[in-house]
Amino acid sequence: MNFEVIDTKIDEIQSDCEIVLVVSKELKHRWIKDLDTLKTMGFKGNSKETAFLPHKNIVYAGVDSLESDDIRTAISNALKAIKNSNYKSIKVGLYTENCPPINARALAEGILLGTYSFDKYKSKKDDFSIKGIKISTEDYNGKIYAQESTQKAVEEAQIISEATNAAKDIVNTTPFDMTPKKLATYAQKMAKETDGVECFIGDEKFLAKEKMGAFLAVSRASSEKPRLIHLSYKPKNAKKRFVFVGKGLTYDSGGLSLKPSEHMVTMKSDKSGAAAAINIIRAAALLKLPFEVHSIIGAAENMIGGNAYKPDDILIARNGKSIEVRNTDAEGRLVLADCLDYAQDLKPDLFFDLATLTGACVVALGEYTSGVMGHSSSLKHSFAKAAKKSGELTGSLPFNKYLKKLLKSSIADLSNISTSRYGGAITAWLFLDNFIKEENKDKWLHLDIAGPAYVEKDWGYNQCGASGAGVRMCVYWMKEQTLENKEHK
Ligand code: BES
Ligand code: ZN
Ligand code: ZN
Repeated sequence: MNFEVIDTKIDEIQSDCEIVLVVSKELKHRWIKDLDTLKTMGFKGNSKETAFLPHKNIVYAGVDSLESDDIRTAISNALKAIKNSNYKSIKVGLYTENCPPINARALAEGILLGTYSFDKYKSKKDDFSIKGIKISTEDYNGKIYAQESTQKAVEEAQIISEATNAAKDIVNTTPFDMTPKKLATYAQKMAKETDGVECFIGDEKFLAKEKMGAFLAVSRASSEKPRLIHLSYKPKNAKKRFVFVGKGLTYDSGGLSLKPSEHMVTMKSDKSGAAAAINIIRAAALLKLPFEVHSIIGAAENMIGGNAYKPDDILIARNGKSIEVRNTDAEGRLVLADCLDYAQDLKPDLFFDLATLTGACVVALGEYTSGVMGHSSSLKHSFAKAAKKSGELTGSLPFNKYLKKLLKSSIADLSNISTSRYGGAITAWLFLDNFIKEENKDKWLHLDIAGPAYVEKDWGYNQCGASGAGVRMCVYWMKEQTLENKEHK
């Protein structure tokens, strides 16, 4: 998709079709040239509503407000309405009185995220004819804005949306085509193609040398061998060091605590944290953020077999703690325990883990919302604010000392599951907390993306399947750190 930001009135720009967003209840806007027709059609400008007038080469789309996420949804709806046309280029204006770059960013993101499709396994490929988008910097009142800041916003939006779409591709790819080894190859290729990104791959021998007993146990029964992927981006004079740890279960069958068949399908999505971590660092490098960024990915397959790890086994994690396995389907926390310990050796200023960790998080917050858990309220707060701007939904789940006790084991230092079936998203976080060093407690956030990472229906500007959850909120959060010099306590 080619974006052009043009400082000319929208009516003077040549294109095959025009998109006009209609803020509900403001049907009198001067860009609405077809008011009578729209009234006859019963068009009210509600969100989800579109009116395509092919003879006029114009499509109207309702928008609830000029909040970024409403704009993303509306422009995506407008494009859906002309999906089957053969238009090559469209034009759109900025609809704002005071801050055009924000709207331009949202428009570009809505266009790129909303037109994503995954057709790798279809014999007939989707063909979207629109290749060029022209954005006029004319505002609500007819004033033309300087092109420069709008152009920059569109370029950033392109980087972030393309990273999100790349994460969707990884997640949507089948477990056969995206094994731990293939995921590692993907990461290496990305590093090669992205200025400033380096990639280290650790194989089974490396994991053994690092004494990652929990990670190794999870991967043992699979014929696909595990990989630790360590990507890094180290710009000169970096202000801070951030680390993102991603759960990369390229398939989660549940292991010997086998999942029932209806829960097993979609478990190719258990690599969503990894897909996000790979693309967060890619976006950070392309945006040239002034931070050192690392992504640590635990890539493995949780399978059954004669050598599978078992309920009743006791594993020794990298930090020396012993873990009683009571359910082999609670495998993500075992892989993350070792990866989080490894990540702390990098002495991060702040670090995050992204994981499709628990079904309980989906029960708690619904399928569209990621759970945010951490000890530092200011870090949680700054993250939630950035996530909201990015268009990702988050909900905070609180610490609870009674839940923490439920992970006790009579035979090992802790059990990999809680003794209660309630509060599963929080107990999973509190399990991980056992692998965070005392001095790092306030530097860490746990992001449970099990809900939004993979949804089997279209929602907003997201498609059925992977949504690239985690990429946008983490990149937006890092971008915010360049604006303010925050202390997280
Ligand atoms: N990968 C799953 C969690 C999951 C569930 C992700 C639904 C996406 C959608 C994870 O490994 C798992 O199986 N967790 C168990 C934990 C339980 C055994 C304590 C779960 O949530 O049931
Ligand atoms: Zn599992
Ligand atoms: Zn899992």
